[in-house]
Amino acid sequence: MQATIGACKLELVIGDITRQAADAIVNAANSRLAGGGGVDGAIHRGGGPSIMEETRRHYPQGCPTGDAVATGAGKLPARCVIHAVGPIWKGGQNQEESLLASAYWRSLEVASAQPCASIAFPSLSTGAYAYPLQQAARIALHTVATYLRLHGQPQLVRFVLFDERAYEAYADALTPILSENHCR
Ligand code: APR
Repeated sequence: MQATIGACKLELVIGDITRQAADAIVNAANSRLAGGGGVDGAIHRGGGPSIMEETRRHYPQGCPTGDAVATGAGKLPARCVIHAVGPIWKGGQNQEESLLASAYWRSLEVASAQPCASIAFPSLSTGAYAYPLQQAARIALHTVATYLRLHGQPQLVRFVLFDERAYEAYADALTPILSENHCR
């Protein structure tokens, strides 16, 4: 599924984020940038030790929740990895929504500064961090669409969903965005 926002493309696919040959892929990191399972484990396994060496050297304090930092991508086909820290779901009254939106927004700002023409996101916070999928999908797509309308870049944003369930949630959330004026 695909939407066009100005000159930019917003795509949904099912797949593995580590296989994406985008300029940037986004890691679902933790605030210590300490590595983990899920997307984080797959990126460090696939990319090799240089990614962790770089986070330790450049970001010894880690990265706050809602923020993002960039490193190289080691052996992965992408050019760089943007480590974004989404919130842990604690019931919805702990600024989860604004922190999740901020993690996407900051990732796009960091990508624009590289600069990157294409970026691939996983579904931040919806695995180990237990953010409800439908809500997370709405926030993710709304934030990215708003950024693209405002900045007109990156040219391509691809959401790489790991399974049918996540894909369906994002496809449902994209439908109202598609019907807004600036999209076709
Ligand atoms: N490609 C794309 N999506 C993936 C992949 C992959 N290779 N592996 C897992 N996913 C999906 C999961 O199914 C989930 O929907 O990415 C989504 C995010 O899941 P997590 O990776 O668990 O990320 P998150 O919920 O943000 O939790 C982050 O988990 O691994 C630790 O160090 C990480 O502490 C941090 C926390």
